[in-house]
Amino acid sequence: MSRNLKAMIGPSILNSDLSRLYEESQKLLDNGADYLHLDVMDGHFVPNLTFGHPIVKCLRSKIKGAFFETHMMVSKPEQWIVPMADAGVNQYTFHIEPITNVEEVCRKIKESGMKAGVAIKPGTPVTEVEKYINVADMVLIMTVEPGFGGQKFMENQMAKVKYLRENYPLLDIEVDGGVGPATIGCCATAGANMIVSGTAVIGSQDQAATIKLLRDTVQQSIKKQ
Ligand code: DX5
Ligand code: ZN
Repeated sequence: MSRNLKAMIGPSILNSDLSRLYEESQKLLDNGADYLHLDVMDGHFVPNLTFGHPIVKCLRSKIKGAFFETHMMVSKPEQWIVPMADAGVNQYTFHIEPITNVEEVCRKIKESGMKAGVAIKPGTPVTEVEKYINVADMVLIMTVEPGFGGQKFMENQMAKVKYLRENYPLLDIEVDGGVGPATIGCCATAGANMIVSGTAVIGSQDQAATIKLLRDTVQQSIKKQ
């Protein structure tokens, strides 16, 4: 029963040459990326700073068709909903840890015309995010501590993915952090279908082949489920 789940690869441009954000992003899309995963950090929720809606808006002005997901590693996710919608974002994925009004934030995201993704850090139990599955479009299980690209994949997070997949066969489940050819197997087996990959794709000599390998691995697991 392979249903409607789709294997999708969303490269993270965090560790690319950000002075060439447009070129790097277009190259990823030309090489088969299904969507772009844009890491927004506020220096507060995570100890790092990246970019915000003005940059996303500029990128959108040059790249019309692609699906943009912003991964909001910020303390006040509610604050950036309208600016990100205005910048042309398709999916607004935010962390539930710093807030208590998750349902309301999801509702506002959808009212702004975007999909809502809910994310948890490695230390947050899966039951905390399970509460919001009925109001969200996707769940992101982080496989590193958010804040930096190039970290080591945390395999112990796969229990969360497995639990969600067993209980929610059609849920879009994304993994993010340390995912590449060496770790895609366990992500796929656990049941993730949306795959964020930064360093492994950006640093690959053959981006198209790497993206295809990631997608094929997930697709094969979906067929078996
Ligand atoms: C980490 C970010 C990730 C990261 C992925 O805080 O959310 O999206 O950039 O990069 P890799 O694949 O290098 O871990
Ligand atoms: Zn991310």
